Amino acid sequence: MEINSLFSVKGKTAIVTGGSRGIGEMIASGFLANGVKVYISARKAPALIEKANELSEKFQQECIPVPCDLSSSEGINNFVTEIKNNEESIDFLINNAGAAWGETFESFSEKGWDKVMNLNVKSMFFLTQQFKTLLTKNASLEDPSRVINIGSIDGLNVPAFETYSYSTSKAAVHHLTRVMAAKLVKENILVNAIAPGPYPSEMLGSAVNSDYTEIEKRNPRKRVGSAEDIAGLVIFLCSRAGAYTVGETITSDGGIVKTSSHNLG
Ligand SMILES: NC(=O)c1ccc[n+]([C@@H]2O[C@H](COP(=O)([O-])OP(=O)(O)OC[C@H]3O[C@@H](n4cnc5c(N)ncnc54)[C@H](OP(=O)(O)O)[C@@H]3O)[C@@H](O)[C@H]2O)c1
Repeated sequence: MEINSLFSVKGKTAIVTGGSRGIGEMIASGFLANGVKVYISARKAPALIEKANELSEKFQQECIPVPCDLSSSEGINNFVTEIKNNEESIDFLINNAGAAWGETFESFSEKGWDKVMNLNVKSMFFLTQQFKTLLTKNASLEDPSRVINIGSIDGLNVPAFETYSYSTSKAAVHHLTRVMAAKLVKENILVNAIAPGPYPSEMLGSAVNSDYTEIEKRNPRKRVGSAEDIAGLVIFLCSRAGAYTVGETITSDGGIVKTSSHNLG
C-alpha cells in the first residue's frame, strides 16, 4: 500500500510514439525519471536523436530513439521490426503521435482528412495490433501490460477551431480504446485513453502563435497543462494503482469538459 510500490513503474520498458517533443516528451520524461527504459519515435531523426540523448543524460536512464513515419504500413512494420530486434517484451505502449489539420468547412481537403485519420486512428490500431505479442509476453493477471491512447477533449466537446478530421479522429480514438480494451483485457493488456486539454506544444502553439494567454484565461484552472500533469496520470495508469482501470477516457484539461457551462444546462 505504500506509495513507492503502489505507483512504481521501475524496471519496466515503454514505447512512447511522438516522443521527440510536446506531450510525448513529457510522458517519456516521467517514465525516465522513475526508472523506465523508454523508446521514443518520430519522423525527424536528428531532433529525435538529440532529444533521446538529452533525456538520457538528464534522467540518467536509457532513452532510445527509433526514427520512423507511422503514417504508413511500411513505417509501422519497420518500427515494430526495429523494436523486436531489441526487445522480447514491452510493458507499456503509449500511442501519442498525432497530427492536426485546420481548414474551413467549404474548402476542407481530402488530404487534410486522410493525413489526420491515417495517423491518429489507423496507425494507432495497427501499431497496437503489431505490438500485441511483445505486450503479452510479460503480462499477467497480477501485473498486466498497458496501452494508453492519447485522444483529446476535441473528441468529447465540439472544438473552437475548424478541425473536422481531427476532432472526429479523436472521438474515434476514444471509442477504439473501449473496443480494444474489451478484446485485450482477456490477455492482461489494459487499454485506456487520456483526453488532454491544452498543453504547450508545437501542435497547439502553431494554432495560437505560441501565446497561451487567452487559453489560460479561459481555462477553469487558469493555466495550461504541465509535464507533471500528464506524466502523473500516465504513471498512475501504468502502476499497480491503475490496474483495475480499463477502457476509460480520462480528461486532463483543467476542468474544461466537466465544468463548462453548456454541459450544466
Ligand atoms: N498539445 C495539446 O494541447 C493537445 C491537446 C489534446 C491532444 N493532444 C494530442 O497529444 C498528442 C501529442 O501532440 P503534441 O501537442 O505534443 O504535438 P507535437 O508537439 O506536434 O508532437 C507530435 C509528435 O508526433 C510526432 N509525429 C508526427 N507525425 C508523425 C508520424 N507520421 N510518424 C511518427 N511520428 C510523428 C512528431 O515528431 P515528427 O514531426 O518528427 O514526426 C512529434 O514527436 C497528439 O496525439 C495530439 O493530438 C495534444
